[in-house]
Amino acid sequence: MIKGNFDIQLDFLTTSTPPLIGVDISSSSVKMVELSEAPKKAGYIVERYTIEALPPDAVSDGNINNLDAVSDTLQRAWKRMGSRIKNVSLALPAAAVISKKILLPSNLREDELEMQVEAEANQYIPFALDEVNLDFQIIGPAPTDPEEVEVLLAASRKANVEDRVAAAQAAGLKAIVVDVEPYAAEAAFEQVRSQLPGGAADQCVALVDVGATVMNVNVLRNGQSVYMRDQQIGGVQLTQMIQNAFGMSAEEAERAKRDGGLPDNYESDVLAPFLENVATEVTRALQFFFTSTQYNEVDYVVLAGGCAALSGLDDAVATRTQVSTLVANPFAQMTLSSRVKPRQLQMDAPALMIACGLAMRRFDPS
Ligand SMILES: Nc1ncnc2c1ncn2[C@@H]1O[C@H](COP(=O)(O)OP(=O)(O)OP(=O)(O)O)[C@@H](O)[C@H]1O
Ligand SMILES: [Mg+2]
Repeated sequence: MIKGNFDIQLDFLTTSTPPLIGVDISSSSVKMVELSEAPKKAGYIVERYTIEALPPDAVSDGNINNLDAVSDTLQRAWKRMGSRIKNVSLALPAAAVISKKILLPSNLREDELEMQVEAEANQYIPFALDEVNLDFQIIGPAPTDPEEVEVLLAASRKANVEDRVAAAQAAGLKAIVVDVEPYAAEAAFEQVRSQLPGGAADQCVALVDVGATVMNVNVLRNGQSVYMRDQQIGGVQLTQMIQNAFGMSAEEAERAKRDGGLPDNYESDVLAPFLENVATEVTRALQFFFTSTQYNEVDYVVLAGGCAALSGLDDAVATRTQVSTLVANPFAQMTLSSRVKPRQLQMDAPALMIACGLAMRRFDPS
């Protein structure tokens, strides 16, 4: 009998996609997650993950402004994580991608279909076609007409894709999947949804990601997005409030926010007002959702993003919205490798939704 802990994974036995790491490049940091699949399809294993801070303004509004800083940070993150896998999946921010469902005749040949897609794309995409990467996928027969098929068009500016791929390449990594952030978050959300009573079937769940600069609200029903909205509020505001209140530098404030050690009046004078601001913005986003869709109820709010780790945010949001609120942990049902510290992961989990969704791409059959 062979016993031992082999650190080599026989991926060809279990998956068709080569091993890859999910890499989320966002405004505050680079986040990497490596998952593997437990034997006999017994769920996922969190092999390792890391969060490496980016210098201010290296990435803003989803654009890479400083390619060297991003590739340095990617390289540092990868070394720290200690993986051997160099293939990565990346994501583009929603704003860099235009997607549209169109209808086309169902009897087209492959080449005819491509031409039609390009012709249609011209109408919807506000850039020259040679500036964009165009992708499409046949979803299935059109619901209204059996002679037609529904096709999902996705176009992204080449510059956005190329910057990310180039940053990865300069760090010695190879991008083999380029996804879209909300899709990656939705893949990870499936892990959270299965923790809700009845899988939240036929219920509306607002996934609220409060990051460094942006709060993204995505209302999902049976795993499908029915509404999405961004608001300009995030953890940077709290950092600034701490700086102003206690005369700290941005770095000091950032550290204190996570590790504690702030004066006694921090919670009442600084943290509580910030939590109230966020809760108000969530309430406002839900109002917009109700007025612009057929729905008039949200059954759960799921908090994600780095700010979800702030103690009291869930209570503030639940009180203000009167909706059951929980903090996302897409890893809750996964096995942790001995390298991963459970308490630290619990804290970091809400910020890792996109990186987790990207890491799960390794097991996509498509
Ligand atoms: N443990 C923690 N306690 C308090 N705040 C935290 C903690 N961890 C992260 N944050 C805050 O969360 C923010 C970063 O969150 P996240 O990583 O989701 O943002 P991001 O995706 O980089 O930003 P954006 O989505 O706006 O581009 C920062 O403001 C950071 O200070
Ligand atoms: Mg984010």
